[in-house]
Amino acid sequence: MLIRWAGPVVLATSTLARSTLSFLPADVASKPQNTLTTARSPEYTAELFGDTLDALGVMQDAYFEPWVGTWPTAIDWTAAVLGSYVAGALLSLSQGLEISQHGAAGDYWVKDNVISLYFTQIIGFYFGQNAFSLRQQAYDDMLWVVLGWLDTIQFIDQYSTSRRQTGPKVDQMVRTSTLAMAQNRTWHGNLWTPAFSHRARIFWELASKGWDDKLCGGGMTWNPRLKPYKNAVTNELFISASISMYLYFPGDQNASPFDFTHDEPPPLQRQGPMEWHPHDAKYLVAAMNGYRWIVSSNMTNSQGLFTDGFHIRGYPDSGNTKCDQRDEMVYTYNQGVLLSGQLELFRVTSDISYLRDGHKLIQNVIRATGYSLERDAPVDNYERLLPGQLPPWHGLGRAGILEDVCDVGGGCSQNAQTFKGIWMHHFTAFCSPLKPVLNPDLRKRFDTTFTIEDVNREHMKACRRYIGWLQHNAMAARGTRNSEGKFGMWWTVGLLNLTGSGQWMGKDAVPEQTPKGAADYRNYGIPHDGVWVAKDPVESQKPPVWDTGISQKPLGRPSFARRGEAPASEQGTDLKDDYFPDPNLRGRGRTVETQGGGLAVLRALWELSRQTV
Ligand SMILES: *[C@@H]1O[C@H](CO)[C@@H](O)[C@H](O)[C@H]1NC(C)=O
Ligand SMILES: *[C@@H]1O[C@H](CO)[C@@H](O)[C@H](O)[C@H]1NC(C)=O
Ligand SMILES: *[C@@H]1O[C@H](CO)[C@@H](O)[C@H](O)[C@H]1NC(C)=O
Repeated sequence: MLIRWAGPVVLATSTLARSTLSFLPADVASKPQNTLTTARSPEYTAELFGDTLDALGVMQDAYFEPWVGTWPTAIDWTAAVLGSYVAGALLSLSQGLEISQHGAAGDYWVKDNVISLYFTQIIGFYFGQNAFSLRQQAYDDMLWVVLGWLDTIQFIDQYSTSRRQTGPKVDQMVRTSTLAMAQNRTWHGNLWTPAFSHRARIFWELASKGWDDKLCGGGMTWNPRLKPYKNAVTNELFISASISMYLYFPGDQNASPFDFTHDEPPPLQRQGPMEWHPHDAKYLVAAMNGYRWIVSSNMTNSQGLFTDGFHIRGYPDSGNTKCDQRDEMVYTYNQGVLLSGQLELFRVTSDISYLRDGHKLIQNVIRATGYSLERDAPVDNYERLLPGQLPPWHGLGRAGILEDVCDVGGGCSQNAQTFKGIWMHHFTAFCSPLKPVLNPDLRKRFDTTFTIEDVNREHMKACRRYIGWLQHNAMAARGTRNSEGKFGMWWTVGLLNLTGSGQWMGKDAVPEQTPKGAADYRNYGIPHDGVWVAKDPVESQKPPVWDTGISQKPLGRPSFARRGEAPASEQGTDLKDDYFPDPNLRGRGRTVETQGGGLAVLRALWELSRQTV
C-alpha cells in the first residue's frame, strides 16, 4: 500500500534498552496481584457477560425508540457516544456469544438474532442522528460522530471476517445452487458501510477546520462561537478520530453534499474513481501533529491529569497569542479519549512512547481515585466510616472509585453523566491486544528494538494489573442498579453506605473538590466573565450561557429535597424516607447516559478479564 506523506513528519524513535520495556513502575511490577483468581473463574466471566448484556438490554429497551431512531432523552453528542457503546458492545457480543454458547444447539440463530437486534438499532440511529444540527455545533460534538461510525465500521469488518470462518458449512449437495450463492454472500451489514464511512468523512472534514496554527502554536479550537479556547477533549478527539480515519475509513465515493449551480441538476451520486481513499496520510499527519501539540502544551497538572484547557490571556486586545491561561478543571473523560488514539498511533508507527504515555495516564487516573496498584487495594480504609461519612477525595475519585467532581453533590449535567463511561470505552480500546500493524514497510522506518510480541506481552501484562481496580469500580457501579436494572451516576454509592447523603447538594456541596482556577462549565455553563465570551456590562449580569442550543443543558431539576419530587420513572421505587435513601435519585437521576456508563464499565471488565487472564 502506498503511503503518501503530506508533509514533513518528524518521528521520535525510542532508544530504550530491552530491559526497560515494562509499562508498570518497578514497585508495582514486583508486587503480587490480589484479584486474579476470581477473574479467572468461568462462572465469574459468564456472570459478568450476562450483566453486560443486561446493561445493554436495559439501555436499548428503556431508552431507545425505534420510531425516531434515537434515544429521545439524549442530546446530540451524548447520542453519538451511545452509538459508540452499542458498536463496542456488538463487538464484545459477537465474540462473547461464540464462547458462552459454544457447541449449543441453535446457537447460530440466537447469536444472529441478538446481533441483528442491536445492529438494526444502529441503522435506525444513522437516520435518527441529528446530523444537520450537529454540523453547526462545536468541533468536539462533530468528532464524537466520526468516532461512532468508525466504531461501527470496525464491528462490521470484524464480524464479517469471523462469520466467514464460523458460518454454517455449505452442504455438498447444494454447493452449486442459488442457496449456496446466497450463503456465500458477505454479511448484510456491509451494505451500510458506505453510508457510515461517508458520514464519518463529512464530519471529520468539518471538524478539521477547527485546527488553528495562528494561536498557541497549533491545536484545535473548541467552539468557533466563543473566544479562543483550546481544550483537552477537542484535541484528544481530533487525535483519536484522525488515527482511526487513517486505519479504518474504507474510502468514500459519495460526493454529497453536492456543489452544483442552478443550471445543472444535482447528481444523485457521483460515480467514478474513489475520491476519498482509505489510509490517506493526511489523517496520520493530523493525528501526529495533534499529539505533538497536546503533549507539549503543558495541559497536565501536578497529578499528571489533563486539565480542561487553555485560554489566551488578554485576548484579543493584548496581542498575546499564547495559550497561557489554564482552566484547572479535571474531568474523567479528558483522561480517556486519548487512550484509543495512543494505541492506534503505536500500531501505525511502532513508536513505543505512545503506549508508555497511555499506561502512565491510566496509572495516574487510578492513583487519583485513591487506589494503590502496588497493594492492589484502595488506600483508605473506607469500611471504618460512619454512615454518611465520605472517604477523602484524591483528585478524580475516592475509595478507589472513579468520580467526577459533580457526582457527590448530585449536580452533574447531561454532559458529565456521560464522562465516566467515555473513559471506560476508550480504556477498553487501549487495553486490547495489539493487532498486526497496517503497514510493515512503515514499521521498518522506526525503531525495532522490540518485536511486536515483546510489546504485546508487556502491554497485556500492564493491562492485567488494572483488573483489581476495574473490578472494584464495576462492582460499585453494579451496586447502583435499581429494581429495573438501571444504573446510577455516582458509582461510589454502590460501595459505601451513603443512605441519607442528600446532605450533599449541588455545586458547592464539597467545594474543596473543585480545583482552584477551574470553571466547571460542562456542568454549570460558561461564566460571563470576559474570559470565555467578550465582556459586556449587561451580558455579564446574565446567567451562564449554554453553548449551541441544547447541547449544554443545565439540570432539569437542580434538586428535589423532599419525597414525591423524584422523576416519574423513579417515583415509588425506593423513596421510603424524607430524605434520600438513594443518592442517585438526586439531580437528573438515572438516565440513558448513566446507563451507558454502567454498560461501559461492565464491558471494560468483561473484555479485560477475557483478553488478559
Ligand atoms: C464463494 O466465494 C468464494 C470466494 O469469494 C468463491 O471463490 C466461490 O466461488 C463462491 N461460491 C459460490 C457457490 O458462489
Ligand atoms: C504550566 O502551567 C502551569 C499552570 O498554569 C504554570 O504554573 C506553569 O508555569 C506552566 N509551565 C510552563 C513551562 O509554561
Ligand atoms: C446505612 O446507614 C443508615 C443511616 O445511618 C442506617 O440506618 C443503616 O442501618 C445503614 N446500613 C448498613 C447496611 O450499614
